[in-house]
Amino acid sequence: MTLRDGQTSGIFFDNTFKSTFDMRVDQTDYYSFKAEGGQLDYYICAGPSPKHVMEQYTSLTGRMPLPPKWGLGYHQSRYSYETEEEVRELIKTFSEKDIPVDAIHLDIHYMNGYRVFTFDGSRFPNPEKLISDMKEKGIRIVPIVDPGVKVDAEYPIYQEGVTNDLFCKYIEGNIFFGDVWPGKSAFPDFTKEQARKWWGKKHEFYTDKGIEGIWNDMNEPAVFNETKTMDVEVMHDNDGDPKTHRELHNVYGYLMGEATYEGMKDLLNGKRPFLLTRAGYAGVQKYAAVWTGDNRSFWEHLEMAIPMCLNLGLSGVAYSGPDVGGFAHDSNGELLARWTQFGAFTPFFRNHSAIEFVYQEPWQFGEKYEEVIKKYIQLRYKWLPHLYKLFKDASETGVPVMRPLFMEYPNDEETYQLFDQFLIGSNVMIAPVLRPGVNDRMVYLPEGVWYDYWTGDKLEGGKRIIAHAELDHLPIYVKSGTILPEANVKPSTAHEVDHMTIHIYPDEASTSYDLYDDDGETFNYEQDDYFSLNITVNHEDGNVSVDTTVNNQQYQPKWKDITYVVHGISSDVQLVYNGQKVDFEERNGTLSFNKSW
Ligand code: GLC
Repeated sequence: MTLRDGQTSGIFFDNTFKSTFDMRVDQTDYYSFKAEGGQLDYYICAGPSPKHVMEQYTSLTGRMPLPPKWGLGYHQSRYSYETEEEVRELIKTFSEKDIPVDAIHLDIHYMNGYRVFTFDGSRFPNPEKLISDMKEKGIRIVPIVDPGVKVDAEYPIYQEGVTNDLFCKYIEGNIFFGDVWPGKSAFPDFTKEQARKWWGKKHEFYTDKGIEGIWNDMNEPAVFNETKTMDVEVMHDNDGDPKTHRELHNVYGYLMGEATYEGMKDLLNGKRPFLLTRAGYAGVQKYAAVWTGDNRSFWEHLEMAIPMCLNLGLSGVAYSGPDVGGFAHDSNGELLARWTQFGAFTPFFRNHSAIEFVYQEPWQFGEKYEEVIKKYIQLRYKWLPHLYKLFKDASETGVPVMRPLFMEYPNDEETYQLFDQFLIGSNVMIAPVLRPGVNDRMVYLPEGVWYDYWTGDKLEGGKRIIAHAELDHLPIYVKSGTILPEANVKPSTAHEVDHMTIHIYPDEASTSYDLYDDDGETFNYEQDDYFSLNITVNHEDGNVSVDTTVNNQQYQPKWKDITYVVHGISSDVQLVYNGQKVDFEERNGTLSFNKSW
């Protein structure tokens, strides 16, 4: 994507060979891209704004389907939670400590000898019972599924793959074998429709046990050898148009995602599958959320996660996030607290850590940190209605949930290089602290009036400010003219929100917001089974009027009562709700009143 003089355009180079983009401008006055083979097949997205480019690019490559709500809650992972007891204990602790959680991820130790589509009978004697007990508490299990199938003549998946000719092979007909977690393994040839269908259908093993989400890993594919991947001379079937791995390497993970997502969708009887992937190609957003792979518990990696997720968003992947707390190396309380503050606002929010390093669940580093971490996991749940609406928008337009500042301010050159702060939607600024022992940071606020989310103080934009941020404080600023819904906190998204708050930050102009809700887990919204409430706010002669219209209520949310909170307005004004003057309560500089929709 290029942004020059406020004009944006994009190029999508659709070539699956190893390709290079040279973005240096110090020696030349042009950018270049090239590939090791294939056609120079590229598309121009004409813009003229960054959002137009996103719409154009995703009209070519596809958009993210609306994820299930539980996919947007807090996820806890570890390489690995190794036994059923450990998982039960973990959940008990979340509930005792009143920390919301929506999913527990099971890494490779749940399997029998790392054989995909199995559970280890001694570690997980009764997975069905575990999954249903957890579901009762509103928590889902997400097992990892890697592409490597263990070579074992007595293992049905291996048998079927060999018998039905579904594995990647050389042109001479011999199967490609590579070492991954299970040892010597064969790899499904996802370029072949029959293999994709077979693989998808195999997920019955999981869905029969009540599983609705899958984690795809090692799908570059990663192989433990010198090149770290499959031999480039492997000849993929490619549905009867054979091509080498040299050409199709980059779509292997994408096609595994397609096989898994479509298979899960068929099996889930109308429920939305959740899929997480490490690898992909342009368009992977149609199937999966992407996490940024094996980072480390370093402050620098926390900082890098911001541009990584912003760039994924600009690449059509609206649903992404890093391993919160860092994967490898030992995390610590301060790092985890700061990382969780950031994670609460990344589209995908999962704490994950590696074997042999310290455990990093929210309570592992003492009460002082636990309190902060809990506060921000809860904050995520408060913000879910707004995030959900942004996901809905992204599923329709391709414009990402988490945005670089230039996307909203393409004429403000000050925003072009900023990568240590970002916007959620168009009007909420998040500026995480990214260094140890630091309690102050610079924040750039573009032109206009901004509200400090925590204090309600008004700040004039068009300049840098210094935000003071003790450990429990994440700097958040809300642009005037914003309307923001806030849910009451629940233990997980399975527990329905029963009270909504609408925060209004009036502007001089009229502003409007469409609050969106649906059942959060089926595709019924495609048949108009959703709820939509328009809230329009006018601020004239010092008075504020709020007008609401229910646009659709085929789906009726559990919450009926709404508390409206008007910020930044003095109490000597009139507040009018749907044409009637309302009495309000004055609290900490805000004016609030209750209504039902
Ligand atoms: C890879 C994944 C990591 C996972 C590990 C074991 O390194 O990126 O997330 O924990 O494999 O499965």
